[in-house]
Amino acid sequence: MCPNSEKSFYVTTPIYYVNDVPHIGHAYTTIAADIIARYKRLEGYPVFFLTGTDEHGQKVEKAAQERGVDPKTHCDEMVLRFQSLWKRLNISNNDFIRTTEMRHKKVVQKILQDLYDRGEIYQENYDGWYCIPCERFWTEKDLIEGKCPDCLRSVNEISEKNYFFRMSHYQSWLIEHIEKNDRFIFPPSRRNEILGFLRGSLEDLCISRPKKRLKWGIEIPFDPDYVTYVWFDALINYVSGIGYGFEKSPFSQFWPEAIHLIGKDILTTHTVYWPTMLKGIGLTPPKMVFAHGWWTIEGKKMSKSLQNVVEPNRLIDTYGVDAVRYFLMREVPFGMDGDFSHPAMIQRINSDLANDLGNLFSRALSMVVKYFEGLIPPPSQLQEVDRGLQELSEKALLQISKQMEDLAYHRALGSIWEIVSAGNKYIDETAPWALAKAEKDRPRLGTVLYQTLESLRLIALLLAAFMPSTSEKMWTQLGMEENLWEQNLKENGKWGGLKPGKKVTKPSPLFPRIDPSKISQGA
Ligand code: MSP
Repeated sequence: MCPNSEKSFYVTTPIYYVNDVPHIGHAYTTIAADIIARYKRLEGYPVFFLTGTDEHGQKVEKAAQERGVDPKTHCDEMVLRFQSLWKRLNISNNDFIRTTEMRHKKVVQKILQDLYDRGEIYQENYDGWYCIPCERFWTEKDLIEGKCPDCLRSVNEISEKNYFFRMSHYQSWLIEHIEKNDRFIFPPSRRNEILGFLRGSLEDLCISRPKKRLKWGIEIPFDPDYVTYVWFDALINYVSGIGYGFEKSPFSQFWPEAIHLIGKDILTTHTVYWPTMLKGIGLTPPKMVFAHGWWTIEGKKMSKSLQNVVEPNRLIDTYGVDAVRYFLMREVPFGMDGDFSHPAMIQRINSDLANDLGNLFSRALSMVVKYFEGLIPPPSQLQEVDRGLQELSEKALLQISKQMEDLAYHRALGSIWEIVSAGNKYIDETAPWALAKAEKDRPRLGTVLYQTLESLRLIALLLAAFMPSTSEKMWTQLGMEENLWEQNLKENGKWGGLKPGKKVTKPSPLFPRIDPSKISQGA
């Protein structure tokens, strides 16, 4: 592997509310983060990939009370559901941060104290409305028919003394930062949304809760009667998780190289609160905040009952991990809303995975086993058609690198499938089964099979970030002895890496076809 020592790559997911049952929305962001992390590692970057759980606030306190346990015990139990799902989904995070950990609390308190000492925090009376499910404050004018403007649920009236962060001071700086850095908020429609929002006046941010109302939070270091607001606490995970304020931590290497992947609903907190908080303590904002769209389920907004139908563990049991990862990334352009349905999932598996990729792989390997005793034949005397497959694969490789830079996962998969289709077309055109009939055509047969297997080696390498287990399986069956994860896309992505004389294994189907009638809609 050739490390890219100039630049580092840092990717994060939102930290999920520990109370929630992990659903397809959580899985979606985490898979997307995993894919870019794996891809960048294969490009030779030092990568840090962070995910975790958001464990403070009123919702958690309430849920623990209802169960009759203390909030920390409640969190310790709930967090396992996320951690075990990420294992099953093959998520390669470098760390998992919980906001109840001491390493996080220390950083939150350090930042609060720092802002206070700089005169960026002051105390004032607060009159407004609070939405518990969103953990957000709203003013009277924000409300829609008296309800939370985000989730349209009831809000509670609040009047109390609180601490405020002087967010309003940073309004013009923030606008300038967004205007100067056109990739800071991505995709561009989200950037326009925030620039539009910033045309109105930006208010200061209420960052505390009196302990008499909420105990389950991080204590404000300069006033023990208060805990800090859950969003102020949560956003800081992105720097506490890499050891901000601690010597010899990954922080100095990875900040501000961060790319925060989030859902579109939490755009304001990440592109307004977070950069201004960072500016307040003298840190540079992250490189990019990418907001993806939302999934509906068979045309409907996700509800608790629909969540069960697409519960990630059940999807994995039914379709397999890699098929789930593939579907979520292929079906919908990253950044847009999308719809999940079982028929669409089955269609993708049967057509893209079993038919196109699976068949190409097993056809090519079976012929090497049958005609060359499993030993990869050497190529000789390339013809135009052979060079065509090679050129197309090399072109796709370059395209994919640009597409991944923009997190255009569906396009990158589209480019990989161009190689798959070209491989199938190549086999049909060169008709190796016909070449096998005459001894004199053996060298030609060898060339055709070498070219096909080499395109499959590149496919395995390019697919590794998306479908790690499938790629590993392809890689070993192709007789590759080197560790797949130690490959470098630039060096090992060059045509000709497959070694003649190495033994391939008899193929086992990569993706069995799914009979739609055997899958109930409840999966
Ligand atoms: N705890 C906060 C994040 C703090 S980050 C400093 C939070 N947690 S959450 O668990 O409610 O949501 C996490 C993510 O799930 C959000 O990015 C949200 O967009 C995403 N999704 C929730 N429902 C979704 C869909 N139906 N589809 C896609 N993503 C969805 O917010």
